[in-house]
Amino acid sequence: MVGIFGCVLKDGNAAPVVHAGLRRLEHIGYDSAGEASVNADGLHVRKGVGRIDEIHSNFSLDDLPGRIAVGHIRWATHGAPSNENAHPHVDCEGQIAVVHNGIIENYAELKAELESRQHSFKSKTDSEVIPHLIEENLKKGLGLVKATREAIKRLEGSFAIAVVYAKEPDKIVCFQKESSLTLGIASNATYLASDTPMFLPLTKEAVTIDNQELAVIYDEKYDIHQIGDWSPVDKKPELIEWVPEKAEKQGYAHFMLKEIHDQPVSLRNTLRLQDQYLDLMTTFLDRANEVFLVACGTSYHACLAASYMFSKVAFLSTHPIAASEFIEQEGKSINIGSTILAVSQSGETTDTLAAVEHARLQAATILGLTNVLGSTLTRVSRVYICPQSGPEIGVAATKTFTAQLSTMAQLALRLAKLRGKISNKEIDLIEEKIALIPTAVERILQTQEEKVRQIAKKYRGQKFFLFLGRGISRATALEGTLKLLETNYIPSMPFAAGEKENGPIGLITEGFPVVFICPRDETHEKIVNDIKEVKAQGASVIAVVEEGDETIKTIADDYVEVVKDMPKILSPIFCIIPLQLFAYYMAVERGLDPDRPRHLTKSVTVK
Ligand code: F6R
Repeated sequence: MVGIFGCVLKDGNAAPVVHAGLRRLEHIGYDSAGEASVNADGLHVRKGVGRIDEIHSNFSLDDLPGRIAVGHIRWATHGAPSNENAHPHVDCEGQIAVVHNGIIENYAELKAELESRQHSFKSKTDSEVIPHLIEENLKKGLGLVKATREAIKRLEGSFAIAVVYAKEPDKIVCFQKESSLTLGIASNATYLASDTPMFLPLTKEAVTIDNQELAVIYDEKYDIHQIGDWSPVDKKPELIEWVPEKAEKQGYAHFMLKEIHDQPVSLRNTLRLQDQYLDLMTTFLDRANEVFLVACGTSYHACLAASYMFSKVAFLSTHPIAASEFIEQEGKSINIGSTILAVSQSGETTDTLAAVEHARLQAATILGLTNVLGSTLTRVSRVYICPQSGPEIGVAATKTFTAQLSTMAQLALRLAKLRGKISNKEIDLIEEKIALIPTAVERILQTQEEKVRQIAKKYRGQKFFLFLGRGISRATALEGTLKLLETNYIPSMPFAAGEKENGPIGLITEGFPVVFICPRDETHEKIVNDIKEVKAQGASVIAVVEEGDETIKTIADDYVEVVKDMPKILSPIFCIIPLQLFAYYMAVERGLDPDRPRHLTKSVTVK
């Protein structure tokens, strides 16, 4: 995944235009890139690993001939970064090239089917099935448009693609399903892009390709059809008024806000993880004598929440531990029977890697959960899973936290099944609800954002916050605190609510703000009492509650609501959304830049 771009020019060479368009997405981060062009001499493809300009200096991308070209920058999800796995991908005869952004869920079945019919594959990507499917349809006598349409009908997942074909060097066929794709319309060219900024300096006239629409672009026109019934779609270009800087963030003021809003999509991607990887990791967890969940910062908070998930549904006791403490605390006890599940967005955090290296030398089994395929963590792990969140630019981790939680909830559920620990009925119910996570998060964002913004306005002058939660919500309290702390420099404190009598209660004076995380789980009754106790000392309570929780709504000073009737182990995924928004809007209200927190970097790789 990451970005696709293409153009059909009236005259001139398209490759340098595509190269410049891909470079405009440089800030997003990627591991490899490539381009394909078509002209009367056929199809031409160049690609490689690294930054776009490095690839250009190695392979002279701009020399690709022809006025039609497509390009791709890649963030690996299926298959590590390599020349073979870089896009464009081609069919057996090198006539069709495809760039693809997204995930093909059923690629393993399609690949096996195509291989049984003698198609040969060069990469480990899910994307490569697409040119081979198109190739088969072309061989049946279909033209490129119909051949692509028939191929798309076989694909499951979410994706945007662009296709060029040596024997029809006058067009690009493109399509999107649950992904983003926009055409740019100029007098001398037509562009397609997964991200509008790629063509924004060239034209401000844009046509949005909606879900399940297929577009064919030529130098002077474009045709759009609904893929299902092939009804034509008539769309006129609209003027984009975003300045380039805002366009990079898809219209959001900051990457942090964009990434908070990316969560429904990134969570949909975590539901598309390949069964075989989840099953394999589940088997390793099941066999382990002891399991350590090792990570730093936000990833550690995900581990803490996951320890409740594993214990509650799979009856597996795990040890969540901050990677910086791992060697000191557990170093001597690690052995061949130990299993380390290391969780790291970047896969490069020094403390996490040091803990992993120590455990590896003691012959422990290393499992990895990381957003970056090809990172050091993927290389040292026996099995790894990439939750497919896409690159995260904001220094404050947001979408990768909820993706880590969703992935570990799926692992916990699989382990519960394997161990026969909970009834089939319970498993079915949790599975059904897990599928609803993305829409539930979407709904929280739609209904609560304005309310959170008002709460931030009200509390922006506060110098200190206490965050309290019980059970799994202790992890949410920690993460809510970290978000506020790193974007606002407000020295806040998270505590297990049950511990408040052992110190924190002494802090409370009239108007002292306390954030409570209150899902309706087995801790609810106690949390109600906790709120009453701090209210009695004069605290101002901001509560994160489930919809319809009148008990807490009537005693809290302010509240935000999250979806109700979801499995309790999933509550951190929902409850953290208003807290991410709270940190964001507090920073904005206080005139701080949430994308550039003081003294912090995205990934801590030095010590
Ligand atoms: C918090 C944050 C950091 C990271 C931590 C671990 O918003 O971004 O605390 O969570 O540095 O990073 P990874 O997950 O890359 O190992």
